Amino acid sequence: MEKFVISGGKPLKGRVHISGAKNAAVAILPAVLLSDEPCIIENLPQISDVATLLKALSSLGADVKMINKSTVEIDPRHASYFVVTKEMAQGMRASSYFLGALLGRHKRARVAPPGGCDFGVRPIDQHIKGFEALGAYVAIENGMVDARASSLQGASVYLDVVSVGATMNIMLAAVKASGLTVIENAAREPHIVDLANFLNSMGADIMGAGTGVIKIRGVEHLHGTQYSIIPDQIEAGTYMVAAAATGGDVTVENVTPKHLESIIAKLIETGAEIEEYDEAVRVKMNGRPRRCNIKTMPHPGFPTDMQPQIATLLAIAEGTSIVTEGVWDGRFRYVEQLTLMGADIQVDGKSAVITGVDKLKPAPVRAVDLRAGAAMIIAGLMAEGITEVEEISHIDRGYELITEKFSSLGADIKRIDDYGNLAAKLA
Ligand code: EPU
Repeated sequence: MEKFVISGGKPLKGRVHISGAKNAAVAILPAVLLSDEPCIIENLPQISDVATLLKALSSLGADVKMINKSTVEIDPRHASYFVVTKEMAQGMRASSYFLGALLGRHKRARVAPPGGCDFGVRPIDQHIKGFEALGAYVAIENGMVDARASSLQGASVYLDVVSVGATMNIMLAAVKASGLTVIENAAREPHIVDLANFLNSMGADIMGAGTGVIKIRGVEHLHGTQYSIIPDQIEAGTYMVAAAATGGDVTVENVTPKHLESIIAKLIETGAEIEEYDEAVRVKMNGRPRRCNIKTMPHPGFPTDMQPQIATLLAIAEGTSIVTEGVWDGRFRYVEQLTLMGADIQVDGKSAVITGVDKLKPAPVRAVDLRAGAAMIIAGLMAEGITEVEEISHIDRGYELITEKFSSLGADIKRIDDYGNLAAKLA
């Protein structure tokens, strides 16, 4: 098992290039199955979740060819299978998108239940509600989610909770259904808009993505396309918070500043100076951060996927901050790790009360999930001395070349293998 060894205490300085968005890529790749022709996807992040999905697409019969490190050509014409096993899904949350995509393509899907980060219960009842509204029969059989339909018919679906996954999955199933599907109380995240833009570039007819009401008029065929994935809002936010938390000066490049508004607003409240450019944001922090309260919410609210990172910055803020998790039931498992580093945080249900301490201290910690892992790296960069972060496979699921990117900002961070040797993360 590899781990990160970080010698912290230095401000981050420089420029960092942001990769394509994980949570857009993991929906767009299964969506290729809906096309009748080959598709070229650009700006694909080199992360293990993407590698898992590409392998799964191959196993389904698609022809997958890397053109370069971040561009893939996928020919789905011979993808005749409709079963995604537990081994193929490898515990990914995004495997659920095969349900919508395979249902849309074959009217039949048999997919291992989605895994992903452990934030408590992660139901898919809203996905199923959407598929059933379109005329599918959905059952859990032998530990697999089985969905089948003789035909898919457009329908109105009101989501009881704002769900990214259900919104995307219903779009995938509806795009080739006959007639009009309306998703009400839809999620509005940038990756929802990216999936809609991708499908529209193949000839789909989707309107309203990015608002709470999405209208999908089914089409019979989708053609091939060449499409570039949007920049990763959360990867960008992670480097922005790391810059502020280390008292640094970092420009994150290849971003869409509009997607970063809530993160920028909160960083300004903590005392960071922000400069916005067309495709870049510069973050500078002088002195100790100021306290602030945060509540995570669906977009355009403050993203839950930035909660552990910003809480880590607030751990050294002057004063007491309250961070309230508004999306997931259990997203504070990382707090125990941060307290090992000297943070003073009390969790009460969905809120964490963070009393700022002067400094974090180095300690051996674990990445309990993907964003929690990113937060541990930030904590390690803040603390003077050597911090080791274990269970980093969680982090590799969603951050491309993370040691290389932090090193380019002056951080001292190494990936070490079981034998204590330097381990390269080959792209
Ligand atoms: N929910 C239901 N029923 C459903 C679906 C969701 O009750 O059928 C609830 C969930 O339990 C949760 C809330 O609705 O309380 C939101 O869940 P959502 O469906 O939006 O989450 P998701 O699609 O499973 C995606 C991201 C997560 C991110 C959330 C929220 C992917 C692959 N994952 O998950 O990203 O936290 O949206 O923005 O897109 C991450 O990248 O680290 C990550 C965990």
